[in-house]
Amino acid sequence: MDRRTFIKTLTGLMTATALPTSLLAKSVIGAQAAFLKALEEKPWLLGYLGTQETALEANLRIVSGRIPSDLSGHFFRNGPAMHNIGLDRFSHWFDAPGMVQRFTFANDTITHHGRLIETARNTAEAKAERIIFTGYGTHGHDLGSGGSADAQNVANISLVQHAGELLALWEGGSAHVIDAETLETQGRKDWSPETTGLPFGAHPRVDQDGSMWNIGYSADPSALILYHISAEGMLLKTHILPQTATPMIHDFMITATKIVIVKPPYAASNTSSKTFANMFEWTPTQPTEILVIDKDDLTNVTTVEMDPFWVFHFGNAYDISPTEIGFDFALHDDPSFNSVDAFAVMDGSWDGTASAPSRYVQAKIDLTRKSAILEQGTGLGQVEFIQTDARENLMRHRYALMLGESGDVQVYGFNRLLLVDRDTGAASHFDVGATEILEEHLIVPKADESAGFWVMGTALDWQKGVTNLSIYDGAALSDGPVMKAELDIALPLGLHGTFIAQ
Ligand SMILES: [Fe+2]
Repeated sequence: MDRRTFIKTLTGLMTATALPTSLLAKSVIGAQAAFLKALEEKPWLLGYLGTQETALEANLRIVSGRIPSDLSGHFFRNGPAMHNIGLDRFSHWFDAPGMVQRFTFANDTITHHGRLIETARNTAEAKAERIIFTGYGTHGHDLGSGGSADAQNVANISLVQHAGELLALWEGGSAHVIDAETLETQGRKDWSPETTGLPFGAHPRVDQDGSMWNIGYSADPSALILYHISAEGMLLKTHILPQTATPMIHDFMITATKIVIVKPPYAASNTSSKTFANMFEWTPTQPTEILVIDKDDLTNVTTVEMDPFWVFHFGNAYDISPTEIGFDFALHDDPSFNSVDAFAVMDGSWDGTASAPSRYVQAKIDLTRKSAILEQGTGLGQVEFIQTDARENLMRHRYALMLGESGDVQVYGFNRLLLVDRDTGAASHFDVGATEILEEHLIVPKADESAGFWVMGTALDWQKGVTNLSIYDGAALSDGPVMKAELDIALPLGLHGTFIAQ
């Protein structure tokens, strides 16, 4: 959003907020007025303002370097985008309708197109100009549940291309099929009559044969659901793992022979809570369990108990031997990034003190001894959004790319790109400007080298009020971007993306 549109949006929102209560048909949801007031003091909150538009077109201008000649394809990103609907504002960063942002690299140019993901919910609320349904962390006395998980589906977490389809993923319900050319939402993805509407997680894992595994967690009844989908997009099998209380599990891993699910002690114990998020209770007296499941026999589960920790995202897992597994992840001391901070950023009250640090950790599990060794990366600081090279999928991977922080960060977000060489233990980094907040960056294999890769991603310059898109050479990350392009608008800070080479 450019400065003029930004101010216009702000003015529009504030005028609406100032309407007499008697003119409002219902109570206002969320803290739009408080957020807008906080935005005046904390301009970095621009990343969480959200857009009022259901489609966005940005012009890109290359401000330094040039587009690598071998780079051609679509960079898709997803994330919560419409934080305000009419007078209402969602209460949690993960609640707003998802929007696909597509950056197309072709003929030495980059073009952008963004479009609301048209789930039933997102379309209904955009049309009604108000929030209608409860969400992950948003409630109000006149909001309904819609009667099913998909009635609340905002499809706002990630995107994956599989079996020729681009899927927009949420965590609580179905995937949605997106037309990669028009970005039109073609409908809900139903894998089978039996699994229609069941939770389908946001971080599926692709196997060596091109098949795809995924998990979902169900609240009623409490269960974990495993999915295995063929390279052609056919559901091969599902399996239910009953749970005593619903765990929150955002990501998982596979190796060549196993499925690895990490289950922190964060389960839905407070079932009378008004929101899904507040049903969950952190119980640090309980262990974090690692469930290792035999891919060939999904009933064969080995459980390894560890001291409690919370995790959102993993890098890559691999078999070290038939009884040993290695993997890497961002370890959080507790889930407060989600349960506290992601609320505070939406009402503008975030003050930089609440978040539990998250650190890069390499793990080794011994299934015979049912023990685990965790090795924390030193000197890396707080990290998240770990990415690995798809060419090293399910193998002992050399590189892990992640977002980190440089020094004393006073904003809710990251400003350092970190690349860890797991063979040598060395880490290289690049710090973006003090007025920029990084979004997830990807490892994109070079077309012309056996092992080289580009690092690709977006960042919000909240002072300039624009998003930028940068490409780095993985072999010289600390040299800074080989190409930096600037949009003429600011996109809402999003979550996950994927690059589809042409
Ligand atoms: Fe995620």
